[in-house]
Amino acid sequence: MDNVPDTTSTTDTQESPDEQQLRDALAQNLIDVGAARSAEVVAAFRTVRRHLAAPEADMSSTYEPETPTITKTDEHGVHISSVSAPRIQAMQLEQAELEPGMSVLEIGSGGVNAANIAEVVGESGHVVTMDIDPDVTDRALRFLKATGYQNVTVLTDDAENGARGHGPFDRIIVTVQAADIPPAWRDQLKDGGRLVVPLRMRAMTRTVAFVRNGDKLVSDGFDLCGFVPMQGLGENRVRLAVLHDGKDEQVGLRLDGHPEPDTVALAKSLTRPQTKVWSGVMLGGSESSEHLDLWLTTALDNLPLMAAEPGARKRGLVASASPLGIPTLVDGDSFAYRTVRATDQEDRFELGAIGHGPRAEQVAEHLVEEIRAWHRDRRSHRPRIEVYPAGTPDDQLPATGRRIERRHARITITWP
Ligand SMILES: C[S@@+](CC[C@H](N)C(=O)[O-])C[C@H]1O[C@@H](n2cnc3c(N)ncnc32)[C@H](O)[C@@H]1O
Repeated sequence: MDNVPDTTSTTDTQESPDEQQLRDALAQNLIDVGAARSAEVVAAFRTVRRHLAAPEADMSSTYEPETPTITKTDEHGVHISSVSAPRIQAMQLEQAELEPGMSVLEIGSGGVNAANIAEVVGESGHVVTMDIDPDVTDRALRFLKATGYQNVTVLTDDAENGARGHGPFDRIIVTVQAADIPPAWRDQLKDGGRLVVPLRMRAMTRTVAFVRNGDKLVSDGFDLCGFVPMQGLGENRVRLAVLHDGKDEQVGLRLDGHPEPDTVALAKSLTRPQTKVWSGVMLGGSESSEHLDLWLTTALDNLPLMAAEPGARKRGLVASASPLGIPTLVDGDSFAYRTVRATDQEDRFELGAIGHGPRAEQVAEHLVEEIRAWHRDRRSHRPRIEVYPAGTPDDQLPATGRRIERRHARITITWP
């Protein structure tokens, strides 16, 4: 491990009486929501003194299951480093299926999650945690020193080339949003090993658990998530095509390989009356649309995500404003986005589409047709996501489904 002066004083690290209560309550919450399922992951959350990684933050907030602790923001106000929310960390640890004695690479550091991993792999295992930002690795080093984890190596480097001079790893856990899979990540993973990565596919991010099979990575489950964007050689941010601007009421389309929209025509359509079309398809209150949305982006070529600030919703410009973005079918001067409405059955919501523009009804109908197709033919199916090296010939890729072309990889989404 690199050497840094120990700037954490003894007073900072002395255990306060409420700490264990906070950790136990967090662990119980993670069990209750299904994020922590194995005894080892639960034990890690009962043990790691996560608040010590961000001494400037309010201690209790660092133990809130859904709250990331933001540690760095760029000049545009974009969060570029954080200690991830405990629920997301637990979800990824379970996806990784860690076992004692394993060697694990964590991409995107902070210290806390490396300590979680170290708890699960135990003293016979080893963790390499890396970050592009020396401020982050300094913080991680101070935290790991104060908390006494010996089997963690901290590296400062761009993860585009993996952890040079280390590996091969049984597991790689990426904790920063990636649009591509650099070859080093696959090559530094043992065959049969698991890569857990928040992969962005056509603007939608899912933390996907992949298993390496030779040159190919094959998914074994995924979950909905949001992560800070990749920096360095692999930086590849979504582009926002703005349809409406204004303080706290911006509305735009997040583009990620989608056709260039006619923003002038679409902006005009946004201010025209909306048309709603309902599908008859229901979602349970706590049911996520993570599979439906992947189906929609598989089936529809021009489906960017609509991003709207809360003020746009208050002003009635749009009906929903999710931070993750809302699938929006664009067709020339018209567009329609997915929505839900309450029904007379408590906890059941009907899916539908809200259309804008001269062909609002037609475009909304088209989106709703695909919602119905998902419900009828695919709702009980799970898509398969595969990553092939760039340059793999077409005839070696699945014949149906969606292909996403990146610099290093050809990513496919197929539905059985
Ligand atoms: C969400 S934070 C990591 C949180 C951490 N795993 C935890 O919870 O303990 C994501 C990190 O990825 C780092 N990052 C971004 N691009 C990177 C790159 N190309 N190589 C390595 N790290 C990168 C950022 O500096 C940021 O600190």
